Amino acid sequence: MELVILDSAEDIAQRAADVVEDLLRTKPDAVLGTATGSSPLPLYDELVRRYEAGRISFKDVTGFMLDEYVGLPADHPERYSAFMETHLRSRIDMAPGALHGPDALSDDLEAACRDYEAQMARAGYCDLQILGIGTDGHIGFNEPGGALDSVTHVGVLAEQTRRDNARFFDGDLDAVPTHCLTQGLSTIMRARRLLLIATGENKAQAVAHLVDGEVSAQWPATVMQNHPDALVLVDPQAASLLR
Ligand code: F6R
Repeated sequence: MELVILDSAEDIAQRAADVVEDLLRTKPDAVLGTATGSSPLPLYDELVRRYEAGRISFKDVTGFMLDEYVGLPADHPERYSAFMETHLRSRIDMAPGALHGPDALSDDLEAACRDYEAQMARAGYCDLQILGIGTDGHIGFNEPGGALDSVTHVGVLAEQTRRDNARFFDGDLDAVPTHCLTQGLSTIMRARRLLLIATGENKAQAVAHLVDGEVSAQWPATVMQNHPDALVLVDPQAASLLR
């Protein structure tokens, strides 16, 4: 696992966009795994800028989202599919329908998880998976205490995660879903390359475990230590508890 500490979220966005650009140059029909939440937003803005400047195209790219909330109505703006449509897909030339997510509106969530894993398997899994990290060390929505070899599954959001994400729901904790569908840790680990972005002091403890801790279900992101090609980009605040 390679750790790079950069001065700012903007520097991280530039470096992360370089990784995506390099991939698309060598493989224009790459399979890209996307994360939701605030951490990748500067990266998505930079990818849009490079697309508008004619440097990169996503027209042959297939995307797979990490996760989706369960229990939000189809038109809710905080559904991750809506978030990704707003912040990335609709702003670039990725084909409508080319960015996939697990179907959290399904009547049969277990079947939806199996279908999503199968869909990713058919696509050969991700060439590059973009990741954020939760303050409790989750990646995707793989919360502490889960299996380290999980596939796409129905998950229960940790109380800490729901509190962290209440900011997206006008601060109303009760409005934050309790359940989700998420790629499992083994699904994520199948990506050929992992790129994790962490900014801000509230990520410092999780980053310290990720980099310096032992691989443990208590800090799920630590599985990344076993990945042959994982890049972790952090700002000085997120790096502040590193040894
Ligand atoms: C989002 C996801 C989560 C977030 C994490 C950090 O699709 O899977 O693991 O990356 O909760 O969220 P932010 O970036 O909002 O701090």
